[in-house]
Amino acid sequence: MPHQNLQVRLAARPVGLPKDSDFEIIERPIDEPGDGQVLVRNVFLSLDPAMRGWMDDRKSYLPPIALGDVMRGLTAGVVESSHHPDFAVGDAVQGALGWQQFAVAEAHELTPIPEGVPLNVALGPLGMTGLTAYFGLLDIGEPKPGETVLISAAAGAVGSVAGQIARIHGCRVVGTAGSEDKCRWLIDELGFDAVINYKTVDDLHGALAEACPKGIDVYFDNVGGEMLDAALRLLRFRGRVVLCGAISQYNATEPPPGPAHYLSLLVNRGRMQGFIVFDYQKRYAEGVEKLGGWLAEGKLRYREEIVDGLENAPRALLRLFDGNKNGKLLVRISQG
Ligand SMILES: NC(=O)c1ccc[n+]([C@@H]2O[C@H](COP(=O)([O-])OP(=O)(O)OC[C@H]3O[C@@H](n4cnc5c(N)ncnc54)[C@H](OP(=O)(O)O)[C@@H]3O)[C@@H](O)[C@H]2O)c1
Repeated sequence: MPHQNLQVRLAARPVGLPKDSDFEIIERPIDEPGDGQVLVRNVFLSLDPAMRGWMDDRKSYLPPIALGDVMRGLTAGVVESSHHPDFAVGDAVQGALGWQQFAVAEAHELTPIPEGVPLNVALGPLGMTGLTAYFGLLDIGEPKPGETVLISAAAGAVGSVAGQIARIHGCRVVGTAGSEDKCRWLIDELGFDAVINYKTVDDLHGALAEACPKGIDVYFDNVGGEMLDAALRLLRFRGRVVLCGAISQYNATEPPPGPAHYLSLLVNRGRMQGFIVFDYQKRYAEGVEKLGGWLAEGKLRYREEIVDGLENAPRALLRLFDGNKNGKLLVRISQG
């Protein structure tokens, strides 16, 4: 058992894309768990676009990460020692345990990972990623069979699950993604009806209009900006826009322009609604059961990329913003 704990802390608030100097990588002695506490060895760290927002000193749905604090992040790992009756050495658990090799947690901060569920899957399609797609699409988007559903960042972790759920519900599914390989995967492997490589089209509106000839009933927005505007322009009567994220804006240094076509919501009696996956905590079990069933039946597929070594996490985070990765992005902190 090692004695030192490698941690990545927030050293400075980034301006634009995070730089190496915005992070500090340090080693410190591993904390001892106290009464009722559990020591966890992190195996995987989930890299999420939202982390960029948590690094800013701005009011949000969670407080900003304080300067000098360990970077916030969801991890899956193994119990190393336990002073709580509900957890035993060797148990697989997940929680917001941060960018570090070891974490001391209270029992209520940990969720057991059921036997047979690999730790990477517990952070991906069967974790926060899959649940975001599940509740965002079904609860906020309310897709109906035959409707057209547009998903942006469709080859990403959340988008690829949302698109497949829309397909399972009998919708016509259109996706946007930033490379030919991703577009091919969406069509050939996930069964999307149409895809657009938004990086190579000259006329985004024209391409979307062609891919969605009847217009858009549900837009699952992971991207914001121009993409949101283009989708609003094609919204159908009583269309729904699910505001899941706006990754095109997360590194902006100036407030971006608002959507020009927002009146489409009024004309079409449409609805645009944001959500945070944590809102659905009481229903996670339902989501996990459904997603697990589709995975087992082969109706839900996923891709992931694993970066080795916690010290590589700051650079790996940038791959969410340049799109240089396939599916869910994880960091392997230690061997499972
Ligand atoms: N509301 C919630 O509770 C909740 C929970 C989790 C995640 N989210 C949001 O869901 C979205 C997807 O998250 P994820 O974890 O699944 O990430 P992801 O989609 O796996 O990775 C991000 C992807 O976004 C695309 N992208 C990056 N910069 C872009 C830009 N400027 N314009 C257009 N596309 C860009 C890239 O793909 P391509 O360029 O190749 O398409 C990149 O691979 C994010 O906005 C995230 O904040 C929300």
